[in-house]
Amino acid sequence: MWTANPPLFLAPMAGVTDLAYRLLASECGADYTVTEFTAASGLTRRNTNSWLKVESDPRESPFIPQIFGGDIDEMVTTVKLLQDRADIIDLNFGCPAPKVCRNDAGAALLRDPDRVVQMVRACIEAADVPITVKMRLGTGSGPNTALEICERLEAEGVERICVHGRTLRQRYSGESDWSQIRDIVQAVQIPVIANGDVVDAKTTAACLEQTGAAGLMVGRGAIGRPTLFHEIKRDLGWSNDKPPWRDDDPAVARYWCWERYIELSSELYHEHYNKNLKRHAVSFTKGLPGASAMRVELHSIHDQRLLGRRVSEYLENLACSPEVVV
Ligand SMILES: Cc1cc2nc3c(=O)[nH]c(=O)nc-3n(C[C@H](O)[C@H](O)[C@H](O)COP(=O)(O)O)c2cc1C
Repeated sequence: MWTANPPLFLAPMAGVTDLAYRLLASECGADYTVTEFTAASGLTRRNTNSWLKVESDPRESPFIPQIFGGDIDEMVTTVKLLQDRADIIDLNFGCPAPKVCRNDAGAALLRDPDRVVQMVRACIEAADVPITVKMRLGTGSGPNTALEICERLEAEGVERICVHGRTLRQRYSGESDWSQIRDIVQAVQIPVIANGDVVDAKTTAACLEQTGAAGLMVGRGAIGRPTLFHEIKRDLGWSNDKPPWRDDDPAVARYWCWERYIELSSELYHEHYNKNLKRHAVSFTKGLPGASAMRVELHSIHDQRLLGRRVSEYLENLACSPEVVV
């Protein structure tokens, strides 16, 4: 059996886990949030878009920016640039995107455990803050390397490791192999966070039972549904906290979340453009009655305030109609 209340992480997700969404997820019960992965090459070249990705707020605690890169010196420089503002820095060895892997970064590095260890060692030596790592099981060509890498990274002083139970080759196909995560949990003393295919209380309990992990990370299941963290804790009896939304009606919860996302977004970005807003509008309304028609309308709305309001109206109507099951 797992320890009581193991921490739940909102997974880093590019184009999803912007600062407003991370704060919202925390309000909905996520214990940890992580920024989307940000290129060390962009940060060292002072690229504005890259630096926007690692913005935080005093309410985000701990603040964990995630970085990736194929060049060790660039990674070390980035750690030095970020550590004044970061509580922890997370290194990505899990991204399967071809444009990342072509540069020998992300999950492609898993084919070369020596290089991963060298990179992490250099980052730890340069860092005043803890370094954590997120990785996949391996590349999928040849034997998986995650177990060997985790054992070696523990010896280097990595604080915590998150393992997504798929290979680079699998991308998001097949199932997350929790048994290989369990092998890693059993091989190291540092906390291992299990990731992949946790979508509700049932899969949370099953994943904890099967892996023995110190905590779980939830990605796709929390897109458009940040209340998932509250629901997991409520359904597993981990928390009796009363949420700020009416908990007996999922439509009301969705409406509350959208309104809160818009509020946080306008507070944090002021009049600036929120590039993720339309994507969130789609995910917050996914699968709801009449959502497809409403989304067609969104294509022609270019003012972000109007777009936010249109989605609010739609969700408010649903929340007010008693027969809707979300
Ligand atoms: C849209 C999207 C963007 C992602 N971006 C990142 C990222 O920036 N950094 C990272 O480490 N993983 C990223 N991932 C992978 C997730 O963090 C997670 O490992 C994966 O989705 C498996 O967990 P899940 O089954 O709970 O979704 C992304 C996944 C998705 C779906």
